[in-house]
Amino acid sequence: MIVITSPTGHIGSRLLDILLETSTRSEELRVIVRDPGKLPEAIRSRVDIVTGSHGDADVVDRAFAGADAVFWLVPPDLYAPGLDAAFSGFTLAAAKAFTTHDVGHVVGVSALGRGTPVAGRAGQVTASLAMDDLIASTGVAYRALANPSFMDNLLWQSISIRDDGVFTGTTAADLEAPMVATRDIAAAAARLLLDRSWSGTGEVAVLGPEDLAPNDMAHTMSEVLGRPIRYQRQSLDDFRAALTARGVSDPIATAYVDMMHAKENGLDDGVPRTDATASPTSFREWCEQILAPAVRA
Ligand SMILES: NC(=O)c1ccc[n+]([C@@H]2O[C@H](COP(=O)([O-])OP(=O)(O)OC[C@H]3O[C@@H](n4cnc5c(N)ncnc54)[C@H](OP(=O)(O)O)[C@@H]3O)[C@@H](O)[C@H]2O)c1
Repeated sequence: MIVITSPTGHIGSRLLDILLETSTRSEELRVIVRDPGKLPEAIRSRVDIVTGSHGDADVVDRAFAGADAVFWLVPPDLYAPGLDAAFSGFTLAAAKAFTTHDVGHVVGVSALGRGTPVAGRAGQVTASLAMDDLIASTGVAYRALANPSFMDNLLWQSISIRDDGVFTGTTAADLEAPMVATRDIAAAAARLLLDRSWSGTGEVAVLGPEDLAPNDMAHTMSEVLGRPIRYQRQSLDDFRAALTARGVSDPIATAYVDMMHAKENGLDDGVPRTDATASPTSFREWCEQILAPAVRA
């Protein structure tokens, strides 16, 4: 049996679709979800459901009984009192339950950056790598999906793209970096969860097909949306102020600033793109299939 956390999120919902499409009938699927009503009716009848948060000990204790494999994703928490609480703190109960229930394999969503000089001061990425170490220390077979920034982050800006033709970011307009579509992360997770011939611990990078600079993204968005879209660079101070104005807690806002500073200084440059680390969805395809409908909605 495979247990899927965050089945209503970007990655988790796509993963669940793939597993329902491709897994054999003998592979049971169980989801942990806070509100089962958020799952489509057709899915509710095909999976075992444990209701609650996967950060809670009693919930993971029930969910991991009889589990062969777990898909692990820490929910973004903008209001957390601290970064460790948000990542390793949230994962602690599950890490204990992996051992108690003798779970064989875990696939987790994490970030690129391990081994780079800036990895120790990279906010959410530093915390995510510490979470990977916590899971690996339990002795479970573990693969961390090491991701760059998600293309899907642009959906947070769909109103400003639609109304003003502008998207903002903190990196230089011509700084190229990898970017990945969440659907490619889900596909990578599905492959690892269905073929559990791997052992030990390690990372699987999911880099997308090409490096992109914000100016390249503006060009592609303009072509796909049929109107000019421009990139506006924001200082890290303005970025922090915008986060704070939205109610983001101080430690989490600081972490975002540290992460973006680290991205400007090589955080995502440590893993070369090869056939094994590239993933298929191009930014243009993502814009055509995901961004354009969201902006026009
Ligand atoms: N964004 C990036 O560029 C980037 C890069 C590298 C790694 N990551 C990592 O990717 C992950 C985000 O993935 P995503 O985009 O698929 O997430 P997402 O779409 O934001 O989904 C979050 C999921 O977590 C659930 N959730 C929220 N709060 C919860 C709580 N307190 N307890 C239990 N479940 C809760 C949500 O369920 P409900 O329906 O109940 O709200 C939803 O299923 C994070 O771990 C982040 O660190 C992100």
